[in-house]
Amino acid sequence: MKFETVVSDIGSSMQNDARQAASLIIGESPKMVELKRLVKIVGPSLAPVMLTGETGVGKDIVAQEIHRQSLRSGPFIAINCAAIPAELLESELFGYEKGAFTGADRARMGRFEMSNGGTLFLDEIGDMPLALQSKLLRVLENHCIQRIGGNREMKLDLRLVCATHQKVENMVEDGRFRADLYYRLATFPIEVPTLLERCDDIPTLLDAMTLTYLERQPDVAAPRFSDGAIEALKSHHWPGNVRELRNVLERAFVLFSGREVTGRNVTENLLRLRLPGPGSPEELDALWQAATFDEGIAALSDPQGRTLPPAPEDFRDWFLHHNDIDLRGFIRDIEVVLIEAALSAKGGLVSHAAEALKLRRTTLIEKMKKLMIERPYIG
Ligand SMILES: Nc1ncnc2c1ncn2[C@@H]1O[C@H](COP(=O)(O)OP(=O)(O)OP(=O)(O)O)[C@@H](O)[C@H]1O
Ligand SMILES: [Mg+2]
Repeated sequence: MKFETVVSDIGSSMQNDARQAASLIIGESPKMVELKRLVKIVGPSLAPVMLTGETGVGKDIVAQEIHRQSLRSGPFIAINCAAIPAELLESELFGYEKGAFTGADRARMGRFEMSNGGTLFLDEIGDMPLALQSKLLRVLENHCIQRIGGNREMKLDLRLVCATHQKVENMVEDGRFRADLYYRLATFPIEVPTLLERCDDIPTLLDAMTLTYLERQPDVAAPRFSDGAIEALKSHHWPGNVRELRNVLERAFVLFSGREVTGRNVTENLLRLRLPGPGSPEELDALWQAATFDEGIAALSDPQGRTLPPAPEDFRDWFLHHNDIDLRGFIRDIEVVLIEAALSAKGGLVSHAAEALKLRRTTLIEKMKKLMIERPYIG
């Protein structure tokens, strides 16, 4: 099994240079200037830091920047408590001696030891099981660990940064998170602002992310965002924050490479994540025609020029940008929208709608019952 680990070893001779180099945190809005100031103050201390903020706001980046500012010579080690099964988390953190349990055929170092002299980033700390929370508290108090199955106390030079997108205070109230550990970990709490709170940073973020994109694919021409496009991006509410913005930029690279993106393109082609609602085929066609992504439209039409729905293949990169998806709910929503659209397009005639959907009539009736879809009222 492959777990998410990040190890970056900054040699001590490079550290001063590293500290002078531009911050990993991009953004000049007042909220980000304040965040960078906090990171600079807390970075060199040994105080545990608790990063909070919605998904995609950049907590990982802030954790890495805290490590960079710390000038500690050890590595940056990250572990995602939500991504590792509870029963394996302890051995991942503490390591084990040979023979500690069935399958432990050789000794293994844990993440605490790996991060000695550097920074340990405990991501999604809210997912740490209660039993392990007590052990973590002990480590924080004694600065010592013992490998599983070992009897030797190891003194470590530890620095902890944690992150969560959950409200850990509420978990403390419900007894799901130890209060003493929470207060210890949150010695220095930092809230990372949402993209909505700092939408003035959007142009700077786009520029920086464009450079990163071009480093990976130098032969691709970047899209150009017009003033209208920037305004449209600033008016979006960004539930996925900077991760969603990166996603939108990647879509722009594909659909508008080397061309100007207008405000209308933003709302109709770049932020449009859902299938259009029920409507006649003419309405759907008009909607797609209005979208001016000339080459893009070719990929979305069949040889007869008929509009095609988004390709399932487009979802292949979903987990590059998101943590999860409600698969059943998402597929159910698509089924509902398409069945309703077919019924409406076929004047409410179930047999014709079934034909259009390439389903048997009885199957469609069953699905309509299950999904509680009414036949549209045709006046
Ligand atoms: N200030 C920033 N400067 C540059 N890139 C950023 C910034 N904030 C976020 N990003 C980019 O946005 C994406 C999401 O950031 P990150 O993984 O740090 O979010 P997160 O807050 O840890 O989200 P989650 O809670 O889902 O783990 C990454 O690709 C990251 O590179
Ligand atoms: Mg994260």
